[in-house]
Amino acid sequence: MNQPLTSPHNPAAPDWLQVPSDLNHLDPALWPGGTRRDDSGALLVAGHRCQDLLAQFGSPLYVLDEMDFRARAQGFRREFANWDVYYAGKAFLNRTVLRWVEQEGLSLDVCSGNELLVALAADFPPARIEFHGNNKSEEELGLAIDAGVGRIIADSFVELERIEALASARDVVVPILVRITTGVEAHTHQYIATAHEDQKFGFSIHSGRALEALQAASEHPHIKLMGIHSHIGSQIFDTAGFAVAARKMLGVLAEFRDLSGVQLPELNLGGGFGIAYTSADQALAPGELASQLTAIVSQACAELGLAELRLAIEPGRAICGPPGVALYTVGTIKPVVVGPELTRTYVAVDGGMSDNIRTALYRADYTASLANRCSSAEPILARVVGKHCESGDQLVRDVYLPADIVPGDILAVPGSGAYARSLASNYNHATRPAVVALREGEAQLIMRRETLDDLLNLDIDLNGR
Ligand SMILES: Cc1ncc(COP(=O)(O)O)c(C=O)c1O
Repeated sequence: MNQPLTSPHNPAAPDWLQVPSDLNHLDPALWPGGTRRDDSGALLVAGHRCQDLLAQFGSPLYVLDEMDFRARAQGFRREFANWDVYYAGKAFLNRTVLRWVEQEGLSLDVCSGNELLVALAADFPPARIEFHGNNKSEEELGLAIDAGVGRIIADSFVELERIEALASARDVVVPILVRITTGVEAHTHQYIATAHEDQKFGFSIHSGRALEALQAASEHPHIKLMGIHSHIGSQIFDTAGFAVAARKMLGVLAEFRDLSGVQLPELNLGGGFGIAYTSADQALAPGELASQLTAIVSQACAELGLAELRLAIEPGRAICGPPGVALYTVGTIKPVVVGPELTRTYVAVDGGMSDNIRTALYRADYTASLANRCSSAEPILARVVGKHCESGDQLVRDVYLPADIVPGDILAVPGSGAYARSLASNYNHATRPAVVALREGEAQLIMRRETLDDLLNLDIDLNGR
């Protein structure tokens, strides 16, 4: 079972994908802590055999390792001890998970009225919630103000007027941050420091709008301007982009101080911290992130003569991505000739772009492992695809799987906790999979699987009975 495999690299594979020496090996950087195989070779997540979970809850299925989630939340809380850490709920939001977030001492970032209502339904303390969005309605803003959320992140002049009017009508003062576009766009190891002004979020520094927005906000009597915010991208593996963005933001704070005589006390650097989806990805640990970001801000503050600031970050994926694993059942297997003597094997599973759109949307990379057994068969280059009527319906674009894979086998895809269920759709009338929270000895449904009845309840048949 553990003998090195000798089959050659398939030239149709991308450069980053190595032929594994042991297809049954589980890279600890990718899986929830403690994931292992039992003596039969079955994959265990938090002590649960994947085939048992599918037998109990159906396939496909998302599982979420509670202790792993909590450990990651604790890691951010501990390492960013003097910072505010907002869990970005857009990555995955559910009342049970919100209770974990709350119990671990994190704050919460929501970006719609409904996300806010779910948080309130989970009794999340409103003062620890910040509210994002580029087009918040009056109703949503009124809800946030009435609930007493800690911060509203203002994104336009229209919104500043709206907040002022709503706050004035209620005779309250609303604390806000102003969202700034720094011109930095970061993704993985690359960032662009001078472009990316042409987008819908925030007020651009480059055009002078950022400073104008700060002036406007500070003149509104029912708005308490606390500071500025920016979010530069996602899946970022180093701090170079944050360094450039932070310097630009601090430059704006210094300029505003020089104009108004007031130093705003808060700086929020947003989220975007990368996680390992494949063994080629190297994620920074929260400790490294914290020390590097703290040093970057301290140095820039010293250079600009700014007093110490209240700092914040908004990690989503880095907290709830790795604890999540998606489980699928293999349906069909089709070797396809893709070049002279080159074959790629299409392995179709019972889910697809409706339960994870990231691969189709961003050409995101994932990996997958056989979960119901081990195999000593030779590795074949495979593409895990879904069952939808789109050729772009791919889940794992490139992965080596054992040549003896058969219909009925189970595949586990790590890193599926973030932006999978939360971006899921009903395309082809797929019913969105259930989410099960796992602890040793305990597997509990936290989101039930949708049913056809759920879909038919939305469907109005004018000719029906
Ligand atoms: C404003 C803001 N903050 C935080 C996040 C969370 O990003 P991530 O899950 O990559 O950490 C996002 C994601 O899009 C965002 O738009």
